[in-house]
Amino acid sequence: MNREARLDALFIPGRLGPAARGGLPAIELRHASGARAELALQGAHVTAWQGADGADRLFLSRCSRFQAGVPIRGGVPVVFPQFGAGPLPQHGLARTRAWRPVRSAVEADGAVVAVLALESDEALLALWPHPFRLELAVALADTLSLSLAVENTGTKPFAFQAALHTYFRVSDIAGARVIGLAGSAFQDFLGKLPGLERREALAFDAETDRLFTGVPDVVRVEDPGARRVLRIEKRGMPDVVVWNPWIDKARCLEDLGDNEYRTMVCVETGAIRPPIGLAPGSRWLGRTVFRALQEGAPG
Ligand code: BG6
Repeated sequence: MNREARLDALFIPGRLGPAARGGLPAIELRHASGARAELALQGAHVTAWQGADGADRLFLSRCSRFQAGVPIRGGVPVVFPQFGAGPLPQHGLARTRAWRPVRSAVEADGAVVAVLALESDEALLALWPHPFRLELAVALADTLSLSLAVENTGTKPFAFQAALHTYFRVSDIAGARVIGLAGSAFQDFLGKLPGLERREALAFDAETDRLFTGVPDVVRVEDPGARRVLRIEKRGMPDVVVWNPWIDKARCLEDLGDNEYRTMVCVETGAIRPPIGLAPGSRWLGRTVFRALQEGAPG
């Protein structure tokens, strides 16, 4: 298939088809197991992932706007080239841009794949003067796998931050735990001193906004209420951000319902601190694979 294709050129009967989220064009991926996912062209944003049992693995706010140029609240926003606040808009330039369809496939093992790309154009270069090409490959099988590639298409090196800002659905944040961060250094965005995480299990009883660096490649989100564990396996993405806005911040976010903080937790995988330096013509690749397991299952 062409390097850049029309959206409908990606469709594969029974496996990849059109979907829409509000006014935003999207692709629906269907796996033979019954699992399904949805990918909006804006931001190359995965807005839904259901397993073969039909249960939602990702949180998507009922208050989210699905409007061109406005960030989507939930799913998997792609953060690039700036994480959080800074000279560029919060979380960078990629999540609110229309990405282009590139290719699709059903792999030999049955995985259903869609690839979208974003290239710097005049408007992007006016904000961030570094020519780049991003590619996000989404593969749906019994797992959901997201591979983000960043290419420096210019003549000068640049440095960037990138993250998959995944919102997981949990039955109740009060019971949810994040496992796998013990021993990692953290920086707290809510003003606590930096330190070394000592807790084997991170539980939630207040606003949480923390960057962990040098995190081992497997992290788990336990949701005892749903008797489910979400296993996150990452490659080339050394950092993890854990975020829950809790009561007061949720009230301030107009695209998040007041009580929705209870059914979400963000566990974001990425390369944040230090930023990644990329020489002209070089390519960086980061990958995260999500797998839902029943409580007590190995993994
Ligand atoms: C997290 C940040 O990654 O994203 C938080 O650490 C921020 O500080 C959150 O509040 C949500 O950001 P936004 O721009 O999507 O509201």
